[in-house]
Amino acid sequence: MKTPNMLEAKKRHQGKIEYTNYSSNLEGFGKGKKFYVRTYGCQMNEHDSEKIRGMLLSVGFENADDINDADIIILNTCAIRENAHDKVFGYLGVLKHMKKSKKDLLIGICGCMAQEEVVINEILNKYKQVDFVCGTHNLDNLLSIIKEKIDTKKRQIEVLSYEGDVVENVPVSRDSKYSAWVDIIYGCDKFCTYCIVPYTRGTQRSRRHEDIVDEVKELVKNGYKEVTLLGQNVNAYGKDLYEDYTLANLLSDVADTGIARLRFVTSHPWDFTEEMVDVIASRDNVMPYIHLPLQSGSNKILKLMNRRYTSEEYLKLYKLIRSKVKDSSVTTDIIVGFPGETEEDFEETLKLVNECKFDGAFTFAFSPRENTPAALMKETVSEEVKMDRLHRLNEVVNKYSNEANQKMLNKTVKCLVISPSEKDKNKVCGYTENMKLVNIIGPKSLIGKIVNVKITDAKSFSLDGEYIK
Ligand code: 5AD
Ligand code: SF4
Repeated sequence: MKTPNMLEAKKRHQGKIEYTNYSSNLEGFGKGKKFYVRTYGCQMNEHDSEKIRGMLLSVGFENADDINDADIIILNTCAIRENAHDKVFGYLGVLKHMKKSKKDLLIGICGCMAQEEVVINEILNKYKQVDFVCGTHNLDNLLSIIKEKIDTKKRQIEVLSYEGDVVENVPVSRDSKYSAWVDIIYGCDKFCTYCIVPYTRGTQRSRRHEDIVDEVKELVKNGYKEVTLLGQNVNAYGKDLYEDYTLANLLSDVADTGIARLRFVTSHPWDFTEEMVDVIASRDNVMPYIHLPLQSGSNKILKLMNRRYTSEEYLKLYKLIRSKVKDSSVTTDIIVGFPGETEEDFEETLKLVNECKFDGAFTFAFSPRENTPAALMKETVSEEVKMDRLHRLNEVVNKYSNEANQKMLNKTVKCLVISPSEKDKNKVCGYTENMKLVNIIGPKSLIGKIVNVKITDAKSFSLDGEYIK
C-alpha cells in the first residue's frame, strides 16, 4: 500500500524527469469482463479517462454501455472544489448497494481525489466498498493494480506523492472521431493559494515537442479535424525542458501538420507572451478562442491568491488579444468570496467584467481545499454573501454572453459538426471557430465535417443556425 502525503507533494522533483514508453505484459487478462468509467471534472480528466479505457481495452476488457453490466467500475475523480468530492462520496453510496447484489463487482478510484491524504483516510476507514485506488502519477500502472487486486483479493492503494516520469504511447480510446485532446504539459508550479492542482498533479512536466507533433500527425492521418492541446497552464509549455522553445513555437509546429482546427486550454496570464498572441493571430488554423482565467478584479485579492498579475496587467493582455486576434472570443474563470474579499473588492471584479465583456465565464464560490495556503486563511465571507455575489456576478456575465452571441446573428460562419442534437432529430450540434455552440438545422451526414452555417437566433448559452450548402 502506498498512500499520499500532501507535504511531500508540495516538494518538487529534484532529479531529471525521465521519458519512457508505456509497456504492459498482461495481454488478454481482461477477456470476458466489462468495465464502466465515470468521469468528474476538467478536460484533463476526460482525456485521462480515454487512457483508462484504452489500457483496459488493450488487454481484452470490453466497455459496458450500461453500468449494471460492468464487472469493474472506475470513478475518475476531481478535487477542485468540495462539491466535486461530495458527488463522488455520494455515488460510492449508490455503488455500495450495487455491490450487495453483485459480490464480484470491483470498484476503483482514480484522478485527483486519489492524491489527497484526507480522501484516502476516509476511504480506508469508511468506504470499504472501494477495491483499488490508483493515483494520477502512476496511472500507467492501473492494469497491474487491478490484476494484483484480482489475484490477491486484497484491497490495493497505490498513490505516489511525487510525480512520475512522462510516459508516452499509453493506449487511448478516444470519445470522438473528429475532435481529439492532446496533453502537452502535466502538473502546475504556480501554486495559486486556493488551488489543489499543484499537489494532486505535481510539478510542471512538458512532453517533448516531437512526440506531440507526431501524435497530431497521426490524428490528421486518421481524419481528425480538431485538436485541443491540454495542460493546467499551457502557456508554461517548454519552460521546464527547453532553453528556447515555447507554446508559440509549439502552436506553429502543430499548425504545420495541417490539422484543420487547433485549440489550447488552459492559459495563465503570467506566461502569456505577445509572441503567442501573434501566432494565434497569424495562423488560420489556430482558433480565435482563448480561455483566460481572471479569478478576481481586485489587486489585493489577486495578491492573496498569488496570481502574479495585477488587474491592470490582465487588462493590458486582454486588450492585446482582442486587438490582434480577429473575431476572437475570450472566456474566463472567476472566484467570489475568497478570504478577505470585501464588497469593494467584489465591485472591482464586477468593474473588470464590465470592461472586458467576456464571451462567457465560469464562476465559483471559494471552497477551501485541505492543506492549501488559502484554507489556512480566516474565512471572512459567509456562505450567504458568497451566493449573493455569485448571483450578481452571473447576471452581469450572462448579459455579456448574450450580447456576444447577438453579434453573431445573421452571419455565416464555419462550424465543426460533432453530434446529432439530443432534442431534435432534424438538427445537429457544432462549434464555431470561436467556440460557440450552434444547434444547426441539417442532416446527420454533416457530422465530422466543417460546414457553413447561417446564424438565425442567439441565446445566452447557444446559437441556432441553418446549414448553407
Ligand atoms: N475554490 C473555488 N474555485 C476554485 N477554482 C480552483 N480552485 C478553487 C477553489 N478552491 C476554480 C478557478 C480555476 C477553476 C478551474 O476552478 O477559477 O480557474
Ligand atoms: Fe491551479 Fe493556479 Fe495552477 Fe491553475 S495556474 S492549476 S489555478 S495553481
